[in-house]
Amino acid sequence: MKALILSGGKGTRLRPLTYTGAKQLVPVANKPILWYGIEGIVAAGITDIGIVISPETGDEVRSRTGNGDQFGATISYICQDQPLGLAHAVKISQDFLRDSPFIMFLGDNLIEHELKSFLDRFIEKQLDALILLRPVENPSAFGVAKVDADGRVLALVEKPKDPPSNLALVGIYYFSPYIHEAIAQIQPSARGELEITDAIQKLIDLDRPVDSRVIEGWWLDTGKKDDLLSANQIVLDAQVVTDIRGELDKATKIDGRVRIGAGSTVKNSLIRGPVAIGDNCRIENCFIGPYSSIADGVTLLDTDIEHSVILRDATISGIKQRIVDSLIGQRARLGEAVPRPKALRFMIGDDCQVELV
Ligand code: G1P
Repeated sequence: MKALILSGGKGTRLRPLTYTGAKQLVPVANKPILWYGIEGIVAAGITDIGIVISPETGDEVRSRTGNGDQFGATISYICQDQPLGLAHAVKISQDFLRDSPFIMFLGDNLIEHELKSFLDRFIEKQLDALILLRPVENPSAFGVAKVDADGRVLALVEKPKDPPSNLALVGIYYFSPYIHEAIAQIQPSARGELEITDAIQKLIDLDRPVDSRVIEGWWLDTGKKDDLLSANQIVLDAQVVTDIRGELDKATKIDGRVRIGAGSTVKNSLIRGPVAIGDNCRIENCFIGPYSSIADGVTLLDTDIEHSVILRDATISGIKQRIVDSLIGQRARLGEAVPRPKALRFMIGDDCQVELV
């Protein structure tokens, strides 16, 4: 059994962060989203992993993630020159996959459920495809399945205007090598992509065994800011345990579960967990409220912040209003004049969003 993780794409919904970085490397609780997928796959006993990357962000994914040693896996990288669809990504990965069954995992998906029990079912029932489904409020944004009472998949449609059910296709699929034959028989969709949804539909049309499971627990497709903030909240809630490696002065108060990395210094601040703070951060005269993730090398001075994600090496100083529900990019600098600004002065990149609320 192998695994294929898709980590290409343009990440248009997370611009401007994704102009300079891969969306799969945006951190949730200070760890790249992609790494949760790798860890979940390794926990299911699969260590031969291929990661499909794009020419734009592939180098960054490769240099951050490495050869797999840190995960106890072997990672191969496969470059998809153009984003021609999920089934196209499988097609160009045939040299890596050969005749092995595999899990295909979209690198911006996070699920609470472990992968092993589905894998056991996939093997035991000798399926050609096992898909995971979850009820959603906006099925038109996803691939959607029509299933019978036993979970047998009757039909699949990609982003339908008129969805046949509320069951969205989660971005985690189990395939036998027969999927390659199905992919060879499909044509690009209206958006010009070879859709994996169409390839699974082809398996159904050919009467091959396709089964589905409805997952419980959370599923997050972290392609957008609010989804990312929810993912951050859920993961901090579930995973943070108090672990203080940096230095705190006497005037600093910690309330609840807080993780602070090595080399970080915190002075005269209140930190109310769950909060994750990385290495080498400098925090002075701040309130850091629940569900905040502060990456390595961040400086926060005279700042109130909660329910936000701050990426590496950003600096925020002297903002008097509380910063909430925010996603701040790497090396960004936010500051306010003291004592009160008479005017606001900005230098904001393309596609940024600033809300003065
Ligand atoms: C892709 C799939 C879609 C699936 C979704 C899950 O969509 O095409 O069927 O429901 O991932 O994340 P995309 O996110 O590429 O628009």
